[in-house]
Amino acid sequence: MAHVFSDRMIVAIDVGTTKICVLVAQKIGDDHMSIIGIGKAPSEGLKKGVVVNIGQTIHSIKLAVKEAELMSGCTISSAYVGISGSHIHSCNSQGAVPIKRGTVRAQDIDNALAAAKAFPVAQGQQILHVLPQYFVVDRQERVHDPIGMHGVRLEVVTHIITGSTSSVANLVSCCEQAGVTVRDIILEPLASAHAVLSPDEQELGAGILDIGGGTSDFAVYQHGTIRHTMVLPIAGTQFTRDLAIGLRTTIEDAERIKRDYAASDMSCVNKDLMIEIAQVQGSSRQQVTHDHLVMIVNARAYELLQFIKQDIDKFDICDYMASGLVLTGGGSLLRGIDTLAQEILDMPVRIGIPQITYDMPTSLKSPIYATAYGLLVYALNKGSLHTDNAHVPFVCRVVASMKSWVSDFF
Ligand SMILES: Nc1ncnc2c1ncn2[C@@H]1O[C@H](COP(=O)(O)OP(=O)(O)OP(=O)(O)O)[C@@H](O)[C@H]1O
Ligand SMILES: [Mg+2]
Repeated sequence: MAHVFSDRMIVAIDVGTTKICVLVAQKIGDDHMSIIGIGKAPSEGLKKGVVVNIGQTIHSIKLAVKEAELMSGCTISSAYVGISGSHIHSCNSQGAVPIKRGTVRAQDIDNALAAAKAFPVAQGQQILHVLPQYFVVDRQERVHDPIGMHGVRLEVVTHIITGSTSSVANLVSCCEQAGVTVRDIILEPLASAHAVLSPDEQELGAGILDIGGGTSDFAVYQHGTIRHTMVLPIAGTQFTRDLAIGLRTTIEDAERIKRDYAASDMSCVNKDLMIEIAQVQGSSRQQVTHDHLVMIVNARAYELLQFIKQDIDKFDICDYMASGLVLTGGGSLLRGIDTLAQEILDMPVRIGIPQITYDMPTSLKSPIYATAYGLLVYALNKGSLHTDNAHVPFVCRVVASMKSWVSDFF
């Protein structure tokens, strides 16, 4: 018989373009957890990270939730849900206020954050996260914990993430119609960063590129917070479609050969290898060279990584990425993508799988689960921040103590 959902349970739902993944964890103490349930179902109602068919999405979420309930023996009633898609935008915003009583108090910080939030958000967009980067007290720059400091003027520099109001509302409504209350909505790259970046990488600075099915989410992390984000509508599905079109084969066969033979780096080519694939019309088979297949995938991978390079150059954020770039998401399983990224970006690149900090089944040790696992870590940290936060950087405490936009909005 299923256990009743308790507040010691944390549930994460990654509503991806290709799969819905539900993870159930049991909290042990305040800062540890054990993952006791996994549910996975093909995602049918999304395109490029955004819900385009409510009925199909609800059905897929229900399937994944049911599986996770069976494995964990719990009834799932609420969850932390990730969000991504090309509707996500970000910008930096400052807010400055006078320090009312000569020394900085929590109220001054709230006022400065409110001032940073007061900027013209594009029509149809809604603020998702306000991530404080650092404070300036009078002329003292880059202060991380200004409480108690003397001065007359407090300024906060924030990174603000916005998303389309309707896309978010659709996602929330799908979860709720599937019987799951949304506890918080979290930007997926923020979650993935919690899963795959080491504490040193988070502190010294690293980029994370989550190459999913519908979108590739790029984020730059430094000093424990996100500095920059960008979502690109180029990911695994495009690689498969390129192969299907370029080789005139079915989507199904293109997906199969992508996983079994494709590579994004020309040095992976096996000149003697011929691959048999289906023809899009008729039942006969055709032969293609490995060279041809890799060339098609290489062109798309090159394009994707060039966009990342342009973004890094445009925003001059290379210095924030001292530890290099970590690739994750199912698309990072493409052979040679790390080598190509290293060549194009001229920095160290590695593949990120969830860090084994907590008790978890070994099957989760794949970049495919980075977002779902990261959502759990995010939720766990958020909970422990309320009880014991002395060791946590101040900017993180501010993020955690701020009411999430979801509760503001609904
Ligand atoms: N071995 C592999 N080689 C190449 N690509 C792979 C491999 N395994 C999975 N993929 C690709 O990974 C993609 C799915 O990745 P992932 O599960 O991270 O996406 P998602 O979370 O569903 O989508 P999104 O994050 O874009 O909404 C698919 O396009 C799939 O083809
Ligand atoms: Mg994903």
